[in-house]
This record gives sequence, C-alpha cells and structure tokens, in this order.
Amino acid sequence: MISKTLVGGGAVCLLAAAITVSTTSPRLPAVVAAATAPAPAYAANGDMLPPTNYREWIYLSSGVDMSYSPKPADMTMFDNVFVNPEAYRSFVATGTWPDKTVMVLESREAMSKGSINQHGHFQGTSVMGIEVHVKDVARYPGGWAFFDFASPTSNGKVFPQTAACYSCHQEHAAVDTTFVQFYPTLLPIARDKKTLSDSFLKEEAAQPATN
Ligand code: HEC
Repeated sequence: MISKTLVGGGAVCLLAAAITVSTTSPRLPAVVAAATAPAPAYAANGDMLPPTNYREWIYLSSGVDMSYSPKPADMTMFDNVFVNPEAYRSFVATGTWPDKTVMVLESREAMSKGSINQHGHFQGTSVMGIEVHVKDVARYPGGWAFFDFASPTSNGKVFPQTAACYSCHQEHAAVDTTFVQFYPTLLPIARDKKTLSDSFLKEEAAQPATN
C-alpha cells in the first residue's frame, strides 16, 4: 500500500548516516559503511533494520497512481519496487521466492514541472514512504511479514497479521503473496515455471487482460 506520509529530508539523512570517516588510516578515503547484508536483520524489539542499500538491488517495476480502490488517488505518485539480488536470481531459476527475500516498495512524488519537461511526469527526489515485504519462514506465520518505515534510515514497524496488507496480497497476488503480475520481467518466468497462484489464474481467466 502506498503511504501518504511525507518524509522530509529522508534522503539527506541516509547519506549522512552511511558515511563513516576512518581515523586509523588517514591516507585512505572515507569508508562508506552502508548495510549490505542480503538477509533481513532485526532489532531486539522485532523492528526491522532499514535495508539502506536497496537502491543497488534489482529493480522490478514502477507503478503510477496505482490504487486498490475505485476512487483515484488524490495526488500523483510513483511507486518503485526492488528486490535483493540473491532472491531475484533464485526467482529466475525457480519461479518463486526463497526464504529471506526482501522486497521494497518506495513511493515518490510525481513531478511535472522541471528542466525541459513539458508533458508527463518524472520522479521527485524526496521519498514519501517505504514499505517492505519480507519472507522469513522461521519468524512469521504464513512465512511473510510487512513493515512500514517512517524514513529510509529508521527501523521498520511490523504490520499485525490482521492488517489488510496480508489479506489482499494473499487473495490477489500472483506468486507467493507478491504482485508478480505487475513485474513484467518476472511474470513470464512464473508462467513458464507454473508457479502462478490458483487465485490469480482464476482472476485472470475471469477477466482477461485487454491491453
Ligand atoms: C487491496 C490490495 C492491497 C493491499 C491492501 C496492500 N497491497 Fe501491497 N501491493 C498491492 C499491489 C497491487 C502491489 C503491486 C505494486 C506495483 O506493481 O507497483 C503491491 C505491492 C506491494 C509491495 C511490493 C512487493 C510485493 O509484495 O509485490 C510491498 C512491499 C507492499 N505492497 C506492501 C504493502 C503493505 C505494507 C500493505 C499494508 C499496509 C499493503 N501492501 C497492502 C496491493 C495491495
């Protein structure tokens, strides 16, 4: 789901937090110490640590003003979906997600006036929200959990299993509760490997895509 909370200055904080200066080797340049661990990591209270390098992961898709209700959104926004590279490679081989998959949905404001642009939209620099879908079978009933990150550098809060996130993804998503039907490079793989969910195949048969 697209969060509408504006996260002021999130990108600036990210940069500041990612840079540490080495004091022991003055001739070496400053070391960039972003978390690069492929597996999800958690704080003691169950919050998820932010996947700070997700912009270096595999890009799956962007949606513009995608809405789950008939009423259109009140502002134009992009959402961008990324997945950690290890999970992506596994999906390409098997058509489904391995344990420890981390998927990030990043929302950005859609801009229309800037530089030479006359028509259409481009993405603004401020991140408006980050939501994460993580597969951690030993930790969560059903295998997956959703998290909300107030900013790209703060810890993520888990959504309770009763939240609408779980039911919509469970009932409508094409592969293993993820919306592969909207990720153009993955949908043909899932079709080929026959990993599309029964509920998606039923929906598709009832309402064939037009264009
Ligand atoms: C009514 C249906 C619906 C609900 C409710 C919903 N989502 Fe989604 N979600 C979607 C759709 C559709 C996409 C595909 C977005 C795209 O293609 O850009 C998606 C994609 C995602 C993704 C990208 C990874 C994936 O699983 O495909 C994340 C992360 C996500 N949603 C988080 C959430 C969270 C957190 C909530 C609850 C606060 C939530 N969603 C509630 C429909 C839903």
